[in-house]
Amino acid sequence: MQLKGKTVLITGGASGIGLEAAKQFLDNGANVIITGRNQVKLDAAKKLYPGLTAIQSDVSDKDDALKLFNQVKDLGGIDILYNNAGVLTSGINLGITSDQHFEDAAYEMNVNYLGVIRLNNIFLDMLKARKESAIINTTSILSYVPSLLEATYSASKVALRFYTEALRKHLQILNSDLKIFELLPPLLLQK
Ligand SMILES: NC(=O)c1ccc[n+]([C@@H]2O[C@H](COP(=O)([O-])OP(=O)(O)OC[C@H]3O[C@@H](n4cnc5c(N)ncnc54)[C@H](OP(=O)(O)O)[C@@H]3O)[C@@H](O)[C@H]2O)c1
Repeated sequence: MQLKGKTVLITGGASGIGLEAAKQFLDNGANVIITGRNQVKLDAAKKLYPGLTAIQSDVSDKDDALKLFNQVKDLGGIDILYNNAGVLTSGINLGITSDQHFEDAAYEMNVNYLGVIRLNNIFLDMLKARKESAIINTTSILSYVPSLLEATYSASKVALRFYTEALRKHLQILNSDLKIFELLPPLLLQK
């Protein structure tokens, strides 16, 4: 896919892998829109790479997602939706039976899995109408090898992997040109 002139929306693009991806897309001539919950981080990313557009938006919030769609539409729409935003709420979570553990697991599902479905559903028609377009869903090697230390995070990424494979097959059956990619980042430890 030729990236020059394309517009990519990267959720959670203000730090980590998303921020590096934003740089790479900009370097390859794409227009880049990043999102995140924290405005301070978004401002810092914008300062680092003034070419990008930063929009505060939480993928776990329905109203935010709809607002984001309208903002992106006003900017001319997107060709690539890169679902990068993800959370890992607790380090060691098997065998912990507190309410907090349940809440953490639910939040991981809401961001890592349901947040992706929410955005894909909202942007699907826009992306299907584009000549060359793609969705990138970020899973993890922990969706292939269940992590005992991060069991609920692993499970949220398995759900996303199965959904991603099914969405790809569904679009192939419909002869859609919209490409569906699954990204499995290698282990990246934050500084
Ligand atoms: N790092 C690794 O080794 C690794 C390995 C495999 C897979 N992954 C996956 O790769 C992706 C990126 O990981 P990373 O290591 O770069 O993580 P990171 O540095 O923690 O960055 C995650 C980004 O997502 C944003 N975010 C979190 N919750 C959000 C929400 N509800 N709505 C919108 N944005 C949200 C965060 O910004 P705010 O806090 O401002 O919202 C942050 O910018 C994740 O999906 C992760 O599961 C990472």
